[in-house]
Amino acid sequence: MRFDIISVQPDLLVSPFSHSILKRAQNKGLVEIHIHDLRKFAINKYGQVDDYAFGGGAGMVMMIEPIAKCIDNLQAERAYDAVIYMTPDGETLRQPLVNRLSLLQNVIILCGHYKGVDERVRQKYITHEISIGDYVLSGGELGAAVLTDAIIRIIPGVLNDESSALTDSFQDGLLAPPVYTRPAEYEGLKVPDILLSGHTPKVEQWRFEQAVERTRQRRPDLLQE
Ligand code: ADE
Repeated sequence: MRFDIISVQPDLLVSPFSHSILKRAQNKGLVEIHIHDLRKFAINKYGQVDDYAFGGGAGMVMMIEPIAKCIDNLQAERAYDAVIYMTPDGETLRQPLVNRLSLLQNVIILCGHYKGVDERVRQKYITHEISIGDYVLSGGELGAAVLTDAIIRIIPGVLNDESSALTDSFQDGLLAPPVYTRPAEYEGLKVPDILLSGHTPKVEQWRFEQAVERTRQRRPDLLQE
C-alpha cells in the first residue's frame, strides 16, 4: 500500500514512520510512505500556501493552487483510490473505517492547517474527510500519523504474529480482555487460575466473557450498535 501525505509541516511526519512497526512495514516492502512538502508548490518565492479568508475573520485558509498542483502531479503518475482530508469536521475514525481503508492500494492524505482548506479543494479532490476525534489539533499531521498507523498494523504480514491484529480491541466490536505475563503472582496480585490451566477452550471462553464485561462497563455504546 502506498501513502502520499501532503503537509506544510513535513518534519512532524518523519519520526512516526521511522520506528518499530511502521518502519518494519516499509523495510519489508509492504508499505511505501511519501511525504510531500506543500511549500514546494507555493504560489510565490516566499513559500505562500495560505491567505486571508474572503469575508473576513481571524485565521488563514489554505489556498487551492498549491494543493491542486501537488495532487495533480501525483495523480498524473498513478491512479489513487482515495484522497483523504484530515479535518475535525470529518467522519470520526473507527476500526471499521480503518479496515475498509486498509484494502486500498494508493492513498493521498492531505493535512489541514490554520482554518482549513479552501472549500473548493474538498469539492474537487477529496473523497474522504476523516477526524480522529472530537477535539482540535494544530494540524492534520498527527491525525494522519494515527490513521496510517492504524491502517498499516492490520496489513497482512506487517505484524509478526498474524493473529494479534485480529484480537485487538474493536476488531470484533468488543474491547480487548485483560492480559497477564510472568510472574504468576506479584506482591499478592495473582493471575486468574484459568489462564494457568492450559485449557484453551476455557481460556477462550473466559477471554470472551471478560471482553463483554469490560465493554459493558466502559463502552456500553459499542454493545448497542
Ligand atoms: N486537524 C485538526 N484537528 C483534527 C482532528 N481532530 N482530526 C483530524 N484532523 C484534524
